[in-house]
Amino acid sequence: MSPVPDSPPADRAAALREQLREHAHRYYVLDAPTIPDAEYDRLFQALQQLEAEHPELLTPDSPTQRIIGKVLDGFAPVRHALPMLSIRTETDTEPTGALAFDARVRRELGLGEGDPPVEYGAELKFDGLAINLRYENGLLCQAATRGDGEKGEDVTQNIRTIQQIPLRLAGCDAPVLEVRGEVYMRRDDFNALNERQRELIAHGARNEKTFVNPRNAAAGAVRQLDPAIARKRPLSFFAYGLGDVQGWDIPPTHSAILDALQRFGLPVSAERAVVQGADGLVAFHKRVGAARDALPFDIDGVVYKVNDRALQQKLGFVSREPRWAVAHKYPAQEQMTVLRDIDIQVGRTGKLTPVAKLVPVFVGGTTVSNATLHNEDETRRKDVRIGDTVIVRRAGDVIPEVVGVVLDRRPADAGEPFDLYKRLDGKCPVCRSDIVRDDGEANWRCSGGLFCAAQRKHAMLHFASRRAMDVEGLGDKLVEQLIDAGLIRTLPELYKLGIAKLTALERMGEKSAQNLLAGLERSKQTTLARFLFALGIRNVGETTAKDLARHFGSLDRIMDATLVQLLEVPDVGPIVAESIRTFFDQPHNREVVEQLRAAGITWDEGEGTADTSPKPFVGKTFVLTGTLPTLTRDAAQALIEAAGGKVSGSVSKKTDFVVAGEDAGSKLEKARALERTVLDEAGLLALLEAGGRPHQPPQGAQA
Ligand code: IVH
Repeated sequence: MSPVPDSPPADRAAALREQLREHAHRYYVLDAPTIPDAEYDRLFQALQQLEAEHPELLTPDSPTQRIIGKVLDGFAPVRHALPMLSIRTETDTEPTGALAFDARVRRELGLGEGDPPVEYGAELKFDGLAINLRYENGLLCQAATRGDGEKGEDVTQNIRTIQQIPLRLAGCDAPVLEVRGEVYMRRDDFNALNERQRELIAHGARNEKTFVNPRNAAAGAVRQLDPAIARKRPLSFFAYGLGDVQGWDIPPTHSAILDALQRFGLPVSAERAVVQGADGLVAFHKRVGAARDALPFDIDGVVYKVNDRALQQKLGFVSREPRWAVAHKYPAQEQMTVLRDIDIQVGRTGKLTPVAKLVPVFVGGTTVSNATLHNEDETRRKDVRIGDTVIVRRAGDVIPEVVGVVLDRRPADAGEPFDLYKRLDGKCPVCRSDIVRDDGEANWRCSGGLFCAAQRKHAMLHFASRRAMDVEGLGDKLVEQLIDAGLIRTLPELYKLGIAKLTALERMGEKSAQNLLAGLERSKQTTLARFLFALGIRNVGETTAKDLARHFGSLDRIMDATLVQLLEVPDVGPIVAESIRTFFDQPHNREVVEQLRAAGITWDEGEGTADTSPKPFVGKTFVLTGTLPTLTRDAAQALIEAAGGKVSGSVSKKTDFVVAGEDAGSKLEKARALERTVLDEAGLLALLEAGGRPHQPPQGAQA
């Protein structure tokens, strides 16, 4: 369906637009692109060029026209054709919340004990802001915020920059179709945005700020007067209902409406279900609650809607709220508590992180008493002081953080503005080395390197960890003892430990000492990738270490590789390459490596390069979850890696396959939400046999 080069320009433009729309939908909505990004860019540029040559061919729904418009003075008011309602909230986060709603619906419908259960559409309550999208004859002509429900603001030019929102509906040209839904920001997009903001601020940008949570960031982006800035704030959208409709036969149930919107090309969350009665609601609330942390975005509850539209009409409204819908909450992901003190922690690379010591508070499903304050810049800008009431956020698997201060509640005797240098008197709290902060850096660091016991402890633990040198019997208590007693200062000294020195330690019997020595001895036979990872080079994680080992095949070649040679390794970018170079440019690091080799650490040089077995999984990313019937997790990982695949710890749109065993939890939920292919063990083995071709669905493939 590629346009013929000499066909009329109008036909070529139409064909290119259709192709671009299709590929954008696959990429942004379905998360399943079928062409490389570069090919999309090529088509896009071809259309741009054609439109430049033939301006009369430009249409408002052309994919080149997402970013139009100029900086506004303000937003024009919009009167909603149908008011945008709100929804009653059930704040009882227990199952009883769902039971109460079902009981009320049944009572109002006059249903008795013997009548069948009511059918509900159950979905997520997205934590963003409500938007009305007005499509006329299939074209997006206006997007408005909810405002007071009667009157909102025209934010069309910002909403047009959201790639997930179609500028033209697929297969619907009804005179009027208003779609209602939520604009939100994914957690990864939010974290990346804040990371970028922190960097800008560190580089002196005075007008920038970080955002408190994804909802505020999304709201700020939608109401941004400069569309060029709005465009850089990555937003997403889910449709959940209708507004004004003319000339379209509205389907008879809520779930069928969502199905239709999905067919029109609008994003509709896959995390929805049609359930029967109170039991169905309770099960949904529970299932989503368990998957909540693993979702890629924040939700603050679920929403239940009576599925049948005729019943909805019968139930009607009380004031501005429908009687047929309710939001059922989960425990909040933000809470207020009091900041008791600020501690400063020293990380493996010497980074000094201020950590808030809090009056314990229940947030996002767990009790939190420590939260990160990121760095001094952040702490100062938020003006966090000891004694303050602060807002703590814990969402997803991320570390809890202090997002702001409730200034109204600042006590008269609150502490001084936070000053990390003054607080530490310029010295590392662990080793008393000077602390330093480079120009343009937000973080203070301890300059002590491996002289610093804190850094040594982290480095030692990392070195001995299971995925690195795997020294059995060397845990954090023992590392602490060894370093505090001054028995070891450098990594190679680990291998010089003798039974006499060890048994002199408190609580160390002959037996444990023997075990540790045996563990150390066993660890000497390793792989190049493990050894590299164990060295703790900044920015070199397990996967990068494996890539390096596979690419270079020998440690000497890696140590002597130039930046350019390092950049030839797949997935190694300038920052990683620079870290590797810097590490091996330090004579004392080379010395450590030599001493470790002298201590007897060996591996099979050329491991990776000599391996010529077939690699059917190259470019494929797998996630393992749950217990497989016969393979251990490590064995499954080894099989995948031997076939050229990668194993990642979390499910994202980059995941190709999720291998799930018994008791698979939130990762499986997330895989389903993102419509990733789920395999069981048999499915994985069959895929290996088939040489990695998924289109002959192997036995055991579930999706
Ligand atoms: S339905 C007639 N469904 O919650 C019911 N609202 O007060 C109209 N929200 O700000 C709303 N997720 O933006 C509905 N799945 C969902 C929702 C949802 C989030 C928001 C909505 C509004 C508030 C409702």
